Amino acid sequence: MKVFINRPIPEIGMKMLKDAGLQIIIPENPHLEPDEWISYCKDADAILNVGQNDFDADFFEKCPNIKAIALFSVGFDSVDIEYATAKKIPVGNTPDVLTTATADIAFLLMQSVARKASYYFDRIRKDEWGTFNPMHELGQELDGKTLGIFGLGRIGMVMAERCRKAFGMNIIYHKRNQNKEAEEKLDAKYVSFGELLEKSDVLSIHASFNDEHAGKFNKETFKKMKPNAIFINTARGGFHDQKDLCESLQNKEIWGAGFDVTNPEPMDADDPILKLSNVCVLPHIGSATVEARNGMAKYAAENMIAFSRGEKMPHCANPQVYG
Ligand code: DGY
Repeated sequence: MKVFINRPIPEIGMKMLKDAGLQIIIPENPHLEPDEWISYCKDADAILNVGQNDFDADFFEKCPNIKAIALFSVGFDSVDIEYATAKKIPVGNTPDVLTTATADIAFLLMQSVARKASYYFDRIRKDEWGTFNPMHELGQELDGKTLGIFGLGRIGMVMAERCRKAFGMNIIYHKRNQNKEAEEKLDAKYVSFGELLEKSDVLSIHASFNDEHAGKFNKETFKKMKPNAIFINTARGGFHDQKDLCESLQNKEIWGAGFDVTNPEPMDADDPILKLSNVCVLPHIGSATVEARNGMAKYAAENMIAFSRGEKMPHCANPQVYG
């Protein structure tokens, strides 16, 4: 079976794939032009995909030989799952192994924004240490504040635990189904989306992305938030309208924003939002720890090997494919 891997993954996964006797194709230059990408995929039986490539109907029609996709990510919003399932194509993903790493990035962004760490670091880099000024660019403390979580699945749960333990924060959340575990363990309160906006001092997104969520956090929603609110997005850039976010920050409708996912992604280095003192942006590094990336490599390899043996993928985003 010919497996196309668009970029090398950590050794633990590469070794598993080689030991399983799979024929692996990896391009020398990982930056493929669209036609090169299609030509590699056309030629393969299965893809182990690293990064955000679209697997939509158009892709599947161009590459009819593809029988399985193992994603090197927990998110599978880049795949038309309905189409893949109809074509009996299993789609593997990597849940759990990046949960704490991603929650930690949300926690880090929250603190970094609350104390304007990026702004101050940048000043030192520009040789602008300055003098002690009792009123310049003050931060805010998080003790006893309210953390609002949009989503509250595995990653949101770890973020909520961290915030509760470190700062005694009150947890409120909004999602499709109530999270009883969070209510029992963390005294989390289910609220409507409107209440989430109105009551959160920190609002952090931990939901999986779908088309209905595109631009959900926009001019209108930011207006409903508290003027001291910090907006955190470590899920997908598509959740927020970045121009609206920038304007809401400039108009002081909300207080600060930290995001590890941008819209568009990658974002423009000239984006005016990068000039603001109450913003911290990271280039989608939620899972960028040795532990998480090794776990992702292992899960992706397990999925691919299981598929090659005619078995069910153990970490599958569309288990319905197996009937
Ligand atoms: C994920 O695993 O979904 C991360 O966002 C990396 O893409």
